[in-house]
Amino acid sequence: MNILLLNGSPRTNGNTSALSQAFAEEARSNGHQISLQPIGRMDIRGCKNCDACRKTLTGNCIQKDDMQKVLPLMAECEMLVIASPIYYFSLAGQIHCAIERMYSFERLPKLKKAALFLTAGGSGFTSAIQTYQEAIIHHMRAEDMGIIKAVGSQAKTKEKQEEVRRIARSL
Ligand SMILES: Cc1cc2nc3c(=O)[nH]c(=O)nc-3n(C[C@H](O)[C@H](O)[C@H](O)COP(=O)(O)O)c2cc1C
Repeated sequence: MNILLLNGSPRTNGNTSALSQAFAEEARSNGHQISLQPIGRMDIRGCKNCDACRKTLTGNCIQKDDMQKVLPLMAECEMLVIASPIYYFSLAGQIHCAIERMYSFERLPKLKKAALFLTAGGSGFTSAIQTYQEAIIHHMRAEDMGIIKAVGSQAKTKEKQEEVRRIARSL
């Protein structure tokens, strides 16, 4: 399976990266291809609703930022993993911008499965889960393979990493 993982954290060795790397390692060792994109360290802007993309709906956004690299990966992915820290009770802003930019597709053409990994200092998962369920599971019609939530340093524990590894083994 061709997997695209969008990591919304700017921290290379942070909690979201720990979950992302454990998942990627397990996915690769189970024969899947995975591309990890550090969305939180990229230049990604929100949708401008210029509608230039709506003529073809093939991911042809006219904005020249780092989404030019991510959109072709979205067009090919069979599984999308959203990995994000909770920022102010929601998904990290750049992850939200990347989700908005999916507007340049009607739906991701090869997408079949999805998963959500969230990390937080304490609380505030509700809005991020709702966005994932409505935008990715219902609108994009992906099968939900699991939602993993980690609080504080939990993301770096074997137990929590085993939860994301289990998803990778179930694909
Ligand atoms: C701008 C900002 C906003 C945050 N808002 C919340 C929040 O609303 N709720 C919460 O529990 N933690 C919040 N946190 C803490 C992060 O979600 C938490 O430290 C997370 O694990 C960081 O992930 P990372 O290590 O992958 O970067 C916030 C952190 C930052 C920098």
